[in-house]
Amino acid sequence: MTACRYLLLLFLGTIEGMTSSPATSAAGALAAGHPLVDGRTADSPLITAYRGGKPSRRPVWFMRQAGRSLPEYLKVREGIAMLDSCLRPELASEITLQPVRRHDVDAGIFFSDIVIPLKLAGVGVDIVPGVGPVLDKPVRTAADVAALPQLTWEALEPIREAVRLTVAELGSTPLIGFAGAPFTLAAYMVEGKPSRDHLGPRTMMHADPETWRALANWAADASGMFLQAQLQAGASAGQLFDSWAGSLGLADYKNFVAPASTRALDHVRHLGAPLIHFGTGTSELLVAMRDVGVDVVGVDYRLPLDEANRRLGGSVPLQGNIDPALLSAPWAILEAHVRSVIEAGAAAPGHVLNLGHGVPPETDPAVLTRVVELIHSISPE
Ligand code: CP3
Repeated sequence: MTACRYLLLLFLGTIEGMTSSPATSAAGALAAGHPLVDGRTADSPLITAYRGGKPSRRPVWFMRQAGRSLPEYLKVREGIAMLDSCLRPELASEITLQPVRRHDVDAGIFFSDIVIPLKLAGVGVDIVPGVGPVLDKPVRTAADVAALPQLTWEALEPIREAVRLTVAELGSTPLIGFAGAPFTLAAYMVEGKPSRDHLGPRTMMHADPETWRALANWAADASGMFLQAQLQAGASAGQLFDSWAGSLGLADYKNFVAPASTRALDHVRHLGAPLIHFGTGTSELLVAMRDVGVDVVGVDYRLPLDEANRRLGGSVPLQGNIDPALLSAPWAILEAHVRSVIEAGAAAPGHVLNLGHGVPPETDPAVLTRVVELIHSISPE
């Protein structure tokens, strides 16, 4: 980036800080040298399927493909804390590339975490191994929300640098950027740690809706800027993870959560990259999740894709939904399951194979490679 352009971005970032609307953090469409614009990834199987076209082979990638299922990941992470590894651009880039080299998947998913925007804003947060994100101090009152620091565009530079290094290596394989959806992020902030039922945020949205909306908007802007940084630096698609949305009923989702998810994506819509929305336990929420304004809906392992497509009225390509539990089943059972997922997905206007949630850490990586080979061996017709 030229110094001049950088100053312009800083200036626009400052303007954004002065307005209360969810303005974008940096103006303009993707740069001419972006992989989606210069021809490297626009016709890739992944982007073609996301756009409802006919891909040359069946695209597949795995949520959490980068991480603990890979010995090469455990090796490079030795002695380095999770969030520190996300903020070392060379390391984050290397970890992102590892599963692409090993499995021949059709996309890289950027190695980072949904709480990185909190960390970069200056919120005290860590990822405790075997537990998950833990905050120094939960965010529960109007005063707590008002005291949250603002994420700045400059603070996201390690993210942009890691993305630039990664896409330089990926060539025609697209990189998928991601962010946590405001509900999932705010759920960690209110509870201060992982929880099963998310009672804290679900109480807050009814008992103190004004504070809830302020918190959800803060999370929307932090996640939106995080995703925007990845897309502008070279990611060709963006996925919003609302992992815990399934703890909400439809009315609460529409009233208290969907507007914030729309706001998060308002930071990136103008870039024109395909946007995917995924959550778990969201069979009853699929239409509302599409309606926040996305191109593709990710479906968890609970709902067959033909039924998901029926609920969505055949309106969008789907992503999913191999049951992660079956990765440890005998091959014949797993193969039959993968074939049935492909069959069910044929009903949709596009299908990108994935798991119905992340790769379990104990997965044998050789099984993932074999699943990719199987999927690629089945003609996309
Ligand atoms: O391959 C990938 O998918 C790329 C990177 C990625 C990570 N986290 C790396 C990670 C992505 C996309 C995420 C998103 C994420 N983080 C979500 C949404 C997706 C989902 O799984 O529902 C959520 C809810 C988080 C929060 C989080 N971070 C949890 C619950 C944990 C697990 C904690 C544990 O140790 O069990 C993390 C840590 C984390 N994020 C790891 C990785 C590879 C494990 C850290 C390690 O290796 O020590």
